Parts: sequence; structure tokens; C-alpha cells
Amino acid sequence: MINILDKKFTPLISREVIESRIAQIAAEITKDYEGSCPLFIVVLNGAFLFASELVKRTALSCEITFIRLASYSKTMSTGSVREIIGLDDNITGRDIIIIEDIVDTGLTMAQLVKQIENLNPASVAIATLLHKPDALKTPIEIRYTGFDIENKFVVGYGLDYDGLGRNLDALYVLA
Ligand code: XMP
Ligand code: MG
Repeated sequence: MINILDKKFTPLISREVIESRIAQIAAEITKDYEGSCPLFIVVLNGAFLFASELVKRTALSCEITFIRLASYSKTMSTGSVREIIGLDDNITGRDIIIIEDIVDTGLTMAQLVKQIENLNPASVAIATLLHKPDALKTPIEIRYTGFDIENKFVVGYGLDYDGLGRNLDALYVLA
């Protein structure tokens, strides 16, 4: 059990399990994108640890860029997504792989995929560390998922509670 501010969290997924799953996803991406030079778009802040673990295990020529979005306030999805840092890369004709920490309601990814598709990429795929199938409010196609989890708030491995807990090397769930 760990404490962050006013809340208690219990261990959910260990670092070893997370990292071996990420290695599997990296191997799949390496196979699926053979001969392409994909552009990874990392959604900050939450996806930074997942992205670093994933891209360093992906044996491809690739490019990596970052955007910053936020839709969460403390532990609740606000339903509206603020684009804090926009995309300035040329993505026309590119194979895009979005790297996200967690797909919850799916609203963030639905909106981002739509924005990216408007820029005429060759393809768009989503790689997310976590997915809460029971929270989904909009249909969304996720190509690579680390773990499906219950509809409960989680922290660690890049995910935060009110800014804290991102540096935890494992995943924890609200007790
Ligand atoms: P939606 O609802 O648009 O939300 O799919 C996706 C974004 O919300 C954040 N999120 C979480 N952050 N613990 C967190 O620390 C959670 O359990 C959680 N669920 C959603 C996250 O930033 C994600 O990009
Ligand atoms: Mg996020």
C-alpha cells in the first residue's frame, strides 16, 4: 500500500510484468512495420515511460515526436480535451503510431485520431499501455494494448494523481 496526498493505492501490475509485455508489443510493431519508417506520436505527459520503454525495444528506423494533451482533473475525466502542445511535424503519407498511457472513455483518442487523419497520413494505429473497456464511451480501434484493466483509477509508470506518482516503476490502483 502507498499513499499519495489523501488517497491510498495498492499494487496492480509489477515492473517486471509491465516491461515484458512492452517488449512483446515492441516485437509486434517491429514485425508489423518492417520496411516502413513509422512516426511515433507520444501523448504527454502520461505516456513518457511507456514510450521510452517501447521505442528503445523497437528495432526499426523510426521517428518520435510529442504532443501534450490533458483531459483529466485529479481523478475524473473532464470530457473535454485541451491541446496544450500541437503537432508541427509533417505527417502526410506517414505511418503513424500514437503512444498513449491509457484509453479510458476513448474521447481523447477519438479526437486525436480524427485530427491526425485530417492531415492525410498513410495509416494511424494506437498503442496504449492500459485500456479500461468498461469506461469506453466511443468506439475506438486500438491496435496494441498492454493490459485491459478494471474501471478504477490507476497511478504509476507515467500516470499521476494530481501530478504525483508518475515516477513509480509499477502500476497501482486506488484502494
Ligand atoms: P479518455 O477518457 O479521454 O482519457 O480516454 C484518457 C486520458 O485520461 C487520463 N486517465 C488517467 N490518468 N489514471 C491516470 O492517472 C487513470 O486511471 C486514468 N484514466 C484516464 C490519461 O491521461 C489518458 O490519456
Ligand atoms: Mg494521457
